[in-house]
Amino acid sequence: MSVESEETKTFYVTTPIYYVNDRPHIGHTYTTGAADTVARYQRMRGRDVLFVTGTDEHAQKVVRAAEAAGTDPKSFADSVMTSYIEAWERMKISYDRFIRTSEEEHCRVVRHVFSRLVENGDIYRDRYEGWYCVPCETYLPEDEVLEERCCPDCGREVERLTEEAYFFRASAYSNDLLREIEANPELIQPDSRRNEVLSFIRQGLQDTCVSRANRGWGVPVPDDEEHVVYVWFDALINYLTVAGYAIDDAKFADVWPPDLQLMGKDILTRFHGSMWLAMLMALEIELPRLLFAHGWWVSAEGDKVSKSRGNIVDPIAEAEYLVAESGCTTDVAVDAVRYYMFREVTFGLDGTFSTEALFSRFNADLANDLGNLLNRTLPLVERFLDGVIEEPGPGAGELEDEVRRAVAISEEGYETLGFRAMLEGIWELLGATNKFVDERAPWDLYKQGKKVELAAVLYDVVDAIRIVALMIAPVMPSVSEEIWRQIGLGQMGAEIQWDDCRVGRLPAGARVRRGRPIFPRIDLDRVRQRAAATEQETEAEEKGEKMISFDDFTQVDLRIARVIDADPVEGADRLLKLVVDAGEDEPRQVVAGLAEQFAPRELIGENVVLVANLEPATIRGVESQGMILAAGEDEPLALIVPDRDVEPGERVR
Ligand code: ME8
Ligand code: MG
Repeated sequence: MSVESEETKTFYVTTPIYYVNDRPHIGHTYTTGAADTVARYQRMRGRDVLFVTGTDEHAQKVVRAAEAAGTDPKSFADSVMTSYIEAWERMKISYDRFIRTSEEEHCRVVRHVFSRLVENGDIYRDRYEGWYCVPCETYLPEDEVLEERCCPDCGREVERLTEEAYFFRASAYSNDLLREIEANPELIQPDSRRNEVLSFIRQGLQDTCVSRANRGWGVPVPDDEEHVVYVWFDALINYLTVAGYAIDDAKFADVWPPDLQLMGKDILTRFHGSMWLAMLMALEIELPRLLFAHGWWVSAEGDKVSKSRGNIVDPIAEAEYLVAESGCTTDVAVDAVRYYMFREVTFGLDGTFSTEALFSRFNADLANDLGNLLNRTLPLVERFLDGVIEEPGPGAGELEDEVRRAVAISEEGYETLGFRAMLEGIWELLGATNKFVDERAPWDLYKQGKKVELAAVLYDVVDAIRIVALMIAPVMPSVSEEIWRQIGLGQMGAEIQWDDCRVGRLPAGARVRRGRPIFPRIDLDRVRQRAAATEQETEAEEKGEKMISFDDFTQVDLRIARVIDADPVEGADRLLKLVVDAGEDEPRQVVAGLAEQFAPRELIGENVVLVANLEPATIRGVESQGMILAAGEDEPLALIVPDRDVEPGERVR
């Protein structure tokens, strides 16, 4: 990306589309927030922008999550995708398009791409024998699976697969891709990540499996309903769908190639850096301009923050905590979290998230440096200039060098994703401006009756604040708006221009409107004391003081039931359909996730424990009237059975 770009094409920026069964956390917010920041900056530069995010829905883990929730994958996806929409609204993410891979339009593009590659021989049919990691949704060749049959990426157990499948001839593009990346190092950033991709491709890309047996969820392979398209192949194509590929040629010509594709480092090497680029080569489509892989947010213990590790950080909960401790508005707290993410860690490296560090930055950088400058300046304008910024006479523009420097640093930062250095550069300008106020001491100028000088100094200071508000607008949109209002510029519209980051553009005649402090300081000692107290309470709770009443317990109708029939549920590897006698007039049908541990025959005749008053649910199209108890939290380890014979229908207490 060049700083002085003459580009007229639409600036196209993407985030990964996130697995819909997950809940948005700090990791997703990081990628999405970075894309948002760049999109907002490019809009300020006058570019048309297409900024896209969305949800990845055709995954195996979505099927499993739906089963666990007692519903079908589509209804499940419909009900949980809103958590992303809501989170992005709260986090002020200004996406232009939200794509769901279950959309009809996208499915058509996937089928189109698949057919094209079948036609030119880049997709062929063969037999897959190997491993699959469901959490990562990754096919793993024999030599990449660790000894304990664990996934090399996430360390969890992999599954053996033997099925007819379609393969993408990635091997044919190994050499071309290698040459392309070597010739154009700008394509993949940062350098360390590009080197990982290069060494992966140098081993030779293997053809990758791009279909799964059709179990009723996914995009059916064209002319072969027995298979659905592999979720990663399907998901990567979203970047083409939203650009209008095979739908709207004029749009595609304007949007393609992506100017920036952002992602975490975990999905660069195998997917975006090789599979995706090879797919584009096979389709003879221009490669993206930049793939940028950022680092991970890790816990204090050094583990990647993720749902499966149970250590997620919820940025919205962090913002709410900030509101509770500081008294700032929710929008300001959200901006503070956005600021923290990009100021705390160099974009590209891993970082440790800590609430304490967030609060400290809030006090030091936002309340002290930025808030203080505003809160001390506005009363001076009120006292000495009756609240109105005057036309600056000669002598104004003293901060011009500092401003130019900060503007150059921030342009560079937004263009190259060097957010941290960029914010440091802007904060240097704040420091210089604060110092300027101290040195030029407007209160002395007032006493000395130096009215022209006084007006010039205050103009310079408010003008610098205006420029800071513009420069931080992509990172902290709500804070910028509030500063804009307080310095008398009214509502900050979408038409703000980066070009106005120059001294002397503050219009004279603006009346400042001091409001409540934007960043009320947090009492860090009090926060620490409270946190310690809560920790003690939680410990006490964990020791077993979280009780339910006897009445609560008797609400659950537990009964002995005898299994009279058991069959697999079509298309669901883990489910059995049981018919049980619970001592009622009619037998009941219950769907249970027991198929991987128990053969249907083993179960027939067993007495089990049935939760008889559970609301009925439809699982994989099969009605389930209750639940069978088993030991084991994630998967059933043993059935709970009575130790001597009792009649079906007997209550369990
Ligand atoms: O991989 N730190 O979706 P996903 C930083 N559906 N970023 C993190 C993170 C962390 N601890 N945890 C997650 C998928 N991320 C696929 C993508 S794209 C065609 C398909 C971010 O829900 C990071 O951007 O697992 C990572 O790449 C993304 O979330 C993965 O989200
Ligand atoms: Mg993931």
